[in-house]
Amino acid sequence: MEIKNICCIGAGYVGGPTMSVIAEKCPDITINVVDLNTDRVKNWNNPDFNKLPIYEPGLGEIVERCRNKNLFFSNLIEEKIKEADMIFISVNTPTKKKGLGAGKASDLKWVEACARQVAKFSIGHTIVVEKSTLPVRTAEVIKSILDESQKSSKNKTYSKTFDVLSNPEFLSEGSAINDLLYPDRVLIGGDNNSAIESLCEIYKQWVPTEKILTTNIWSSELAKLTSNAFLAQRISSINSISALCEATDANVKEVSRAIGSDSRIGSKFLNTGPGFGGSCFKKDILNLVYLSEYFGLPEVAAFWESVVNLNNWHQNRISKLITKKLFGTLSNKKIVILGFAFKANTNDTRESAAIQICKNLLEEEARLVIHDPKVTYPQIEIDLDKKVQPNNKKNGNKILNFPSQGNWIFASDLLTIFDDADAVIVLTEWEIYKSLDWSKIASKMRSPAWIFDTRLILNSTEIKSAGLNFWQIGNGLQ
Ligand code: NAD
Ligand code: UGA
Repeated sequence: MEIKNICCIGAGYVGGPTMSVIAEKCPDITINVVDLNTDRVKNWNNPDFNKLPIYEPGLGEIVERCRNKNLFFSNLIEEKIKEADMIFISVNTPTKKKGLGAGKASDLKWVEACARQVAKFSIGHTIVVEKSTLPVRTAEVIKSILDESQKSSKNKTYSKTFDVLSNPEFLSEGSAINDLLYPDRVLIGGDNNSAIESLCEIYKQWVPTEKILTTNIWSSELAKLTSNAFLAQRISSINSISALCEATDANVKEVSRAIGSDSRIGSKFLNTGPGFGGSCFKKDILNLVYLSEYFGLPEVAAFWESVVNLNNWHQNRISKLITKKLFGTLSNKKIVILGFAFKANTNDTRESAAIQICKNLLEEEARLVIHDPKVTYPQIEIDLDKKVQPNNKKNGNKILNFPSQGNWIFASDLLTIFDDADAVIVLTEWEIYKSLDWSKIASKMRSPAWIFDTRLILNSTEIKSAGLNFWQIGNGLQ
C-alpha cells in the first residue's frame, strides 16, 4: 500500500522532529502532526523559526522548508485521523503516578486514548504505528481496541481495517536531526509483510536498506526498552567508577579511555557526569523492572533497578560533597549553577540531575543563581517547585539580593553572576562554559572560592592558577 497521507498524534520531542525529517525526505507525502496542546501547536506554527516549542539544532531550517507545504501542525485530531492512511502514535508514556504499578509501570492512558480516537475516526485501511516507547505487548492492547471498531464497522458505509506496527524511535535530544537523518538502524516490528513494506518504503527514501531491521512486534517493543537500559547501565557503571577514582587517586577520564579502547566495550557513553537525566532512561528502566516483576523474574528486576538506584545515589553524593567542601554549611552562601538542562543542546529539563542537586543545595539553605542558555525561568520554577520572588523575575542578573535563605534567582546572562559567589557548579556541558575567563571570575568571587566541575569540561590548571579551589568529578589527584 502506497502511503500518501500520514497523521502523527503527538507534537513533542519525538513527533515534531521525526515528522519534519519524513516531510523533508518524502515531499509527496502529506504529513499532519496533531496535538491536544494548543500552545504547543501555536508554537510549531510560529513565524519565527527560532521560537519552535523545542530547541534542536537544524530543526528550524527543516520546518522552514516544509511547513505548510507537506508538513502541517494543528489541533484537528479527528479530521486528520480520517484523512490518514498511516498514523503514528507519538504521545507521552510517563511512569504511572498512582494505582497498579505506580512508580514503575508506564502510564498508557494517552496511548489508549489515541487508539480509541483512531478506532473512532479512521476510515478504510489504516496502518497504526507505535512510535512511543511502550511496554512489551502493548500492541495487543491497541489491536484489541482497533479490532472492536473493525468488527462493528463491517456493515457500515465506511468500513475500517487496521494493521499495527512497532517502530520505536532511537533519537537523542540535542542531536535529533542528525540521528534521524543518519540512524544506526530503523527498527520495524510487525506481523503483516505488506504493512511492514509500506513503512520500509518511507524510510528507504534516505536510510540504506541494510539499516532497516524488521522483527516480530514483541521483539521490537522490547528492544527499545532494552536499548535505553543498556545505555543507562553504562553511565551508572562509569559514574560508580568515578567515585572510586576519587577515593583512589585514579582518573576517570584515563580509566574510560583505557576500557573504551577495547573494541568489545567501545568508547561511547563512557563519560561520567552528574547522573543521567532525560525523560526516558529512568522511566524505561523502571518499566523494564515492572515487566520483569510481572513476569515473575525478581532477579532480573533487581539487576536493572540497581542502575536507577546508583543514579539516585550519585546525584545525592555530589550535593553532599559540595556541602562538605564548603565547611559543612551552605547557609548564607551564594552558589552559581551553570546549566540546568539534562544535557547540552536541548531546552529539556525532564529528570535533569540539576533538579535534584539544586533541591538538595536549597535544602541546605544555599542561595542559588541559576544560568542556562536555553532553559527558561518558568520551567525552573516548575522543576524546583519553588517560586522566584517577583521582583527578581525580570532581571535576575541585576538584582542579586536574595529574598531569603534557601532560594534561587534566574540569570539570563553571565555578566554579573559571579560577584561575591562562594562556589560555581557546572552541571550541563554547554559550549559557552568551556571558555570562561577564570582569572576574571576569581577576582569577583568571595574567598575561599570553589569551582565544581561535574562534566569534566574545565581546565584544572587555569582554574587553580587563578587561585580558586577546584573539584572535578572522578579526578582523584586534585
Ligand atoms: P512529549 O511529552 O514531548 O510529547 C507528547 C505529546 O503528545 C504532547 O505534546 C501531548 O500533548 C501529546 N498528546 C498526548 N495525548 C494526546 C492525544 N490523545 N491526542 C493528541 N495529542 C496527545 O513526549 P516525547 O518526548 O515526544 O516522547 C513521546 C514518546 O517517545 C514517549 O513514549 C517517549 O518515551 C518516546 N521517546 C522519546 C524520546 C525523546 O528523546 N524525548 C526519544 C525516543 C523515544
Ligand atoms: C536517550 C538515548 O540516547 C536515545 O537513543 C533514546 O532514543 C532516548 O534516550 C529516548 O528513548 O528518549 P537522550 O535521553 O535524549 O537519549 O540523551 P542521551 O544522550 O542518551 O543522554 C541521557 C543522559 O545521560 C544525559 O543526562 C546525559 O548527560 C547522560 N550521559 C550520556 C552521561 O552522563 N554520559 C554519557 O556518556 C552519555
